[in-house]
Amino acid sequence: MKGIKNMKLYHQPQRIYEELMFSDKKDDGKLKVEDLSSHDQYHYLGTASVDDAIESLNIESEDRILDIGSGIGGPARYIAHKTGCQVIALELQYDLHKIATNLTERCELSGQVEHRCGDILTFPEEDIFFDYIVSWLCFLHIKDRNTLFRKCYNVLNPNGKMYIEDFYKVNEFKDKEMKVLSEDIYCDYLPSSSNYQKHLIENGFSKIEFTDKTNSWKEFVRDRKDKFIQNRDQQMEIHNPEIVKELEDFYKKMSWLYEGGNLGGAIIIASK
Ligand SMILES: C[S@@+](CC[C@H](N)C(=O)[O-])C[C@H]1O[C@@H](n2cnc3c(N)ncnc32)[C@H](O)[C@@H]1O
Repeated sequence: MKGIKNMKLYHQPQRIYEELMFSDKKDDGKLKVEDLSSHDQYHYLGTASVDDAIESLNIESEDRILDIGSGIGGPARYIAHKTGCQVIALELQYDLHKIATNLTERCELSGQVEHRCGDILTFPEEDIFFDYIVSWLCFLHIKDRNTLFRKCYNVLNPNGKMYIEDFYKVNEFKDKEMKVLSEDIYCDYLPSSSNYQKHLIENGFSKIEFTDKTNSWKEFVRDRKDKFIQNRDQQMEIHNPEIVKELEDFYKKMSWLYEGGNLGGAIIIASK
């Protein structure tokens, strides 16, 4: 677990409670999904990107969804709230999983969102079949794409689909980029766009739509870093100095990687 905790975004995830206190949401009271939306999405472009997934997959109330790498539960709660469907939210890190469970209870969504702590690579395949899999910025942490995609294929219903937001390799990385990806982002392998699609097809998926998002994600990440630096004083009022320093470092490194022109981002929709 130490490896993934090198990524500073995952340090002190309880900082969301400090952000909620700052915006006058009491420590243990009820919450609305909308109260959380600007704090609980650990990916790019917030809930607009979750809306994209809902629309692209046409998620409806009778559907069963698996959210892989669900973080503190933002996308899972939003999908459940918006569509009325059932979601299993699978998260590797226990501290994030516990916060996710607590926030879901406070949103009174526990009947729709079931949080599980575990690794997708060892997710049980018996008796659970999903209409759709969704996953935001998780697969970049997983080197063993064959086991990952085979598992995804096996837990999907016939005609099931998977919506992924992920990194890919546009050009070969420089040594310094590889080091930052490995040490700061816990990312030791990224395929090119053609290899990405090849991995999916080799593991059973038939139709792949690969949409490049590099430019808009680069802009989002640059803007996130600039705004964080501009608002550092306010961040220091909300959080302890260590959190502010670590988030700033993470946001700067992510932006530097995108500006290098070798890191790409994409939405991949794969059909069974
Ligand atoms: C960048 S975060 C995104 C969280 C969430 N999808 C969101 O958008 O708010 C990626 C998450 O994937 C989780 N993760 C990484 N590897 C995983 C694995 N093998 N199984 C389950 N979760 C994993 C990480 O712990 C992390 O919380």
